[in-house]
Amino acid sequence: MAIERTLSIIKPNAVINHNIGQIINRLETAGLQVAGLKMVHLSKEQAEGFYEEHRGKVFFEILVDFMTSAPVVVIALQGENAINAYREIMGATDPAAAARGTLRADFGGEIVTYNAVHGSDSPESAAREIAYFFPDTQVYSY
Ligand code: PPS
Repeated sequence: MAIERTLSIIKPNAVINHNIGQIINRLETAGLQVAGLKMVHLSKEQAEGFYEEHRGKVFFEILVDFMTSAPVVVIALQGENAINAYREIMGATDPAAAARGTLRADFGGEIVTYNAVHGSDSPESAAREIAYFFPDTQVYSY
């Protein structure tokens, strides 16, 4: 299977709830390697740019407000079939609909906004999203 990279974001609610370590542990245990990692307190402009494709949707402002409410942890992940493998680990967008044992079921909040983690949904978005946060020199294979 192909070695891929994907972008994970540990969102403000999971950071505030001290779930960073548990989430990274689950990723590494599942065989996904941390290829790049940083903590960022997103500006409004950074969050809007990241979620540009959703501009105009009813939830856009709520999402941007939430993503700028506290620092996030941004992780470039690498591994076999990483994009879909990580999406399985995350679970459905809405924590209430996410399968038991997934990150969103276990670390998500009461409403979809507080879904604990983001993950890229395609090779194209993974490439764009990783480049949004990491210059090539800050993503490592080892
Ligand atoms: S869509 O319209 O099908 O593209 O939307 P979806 O893929 O389900 O979600 C896109 C991102 O928007 C977030 N989202 C929300 N944020 C805040 N409030 C509400 N109500 C809401 N609905 C969707 C959703 O979590 C996705 O962001 P990420 O970061 O990928 O989780």
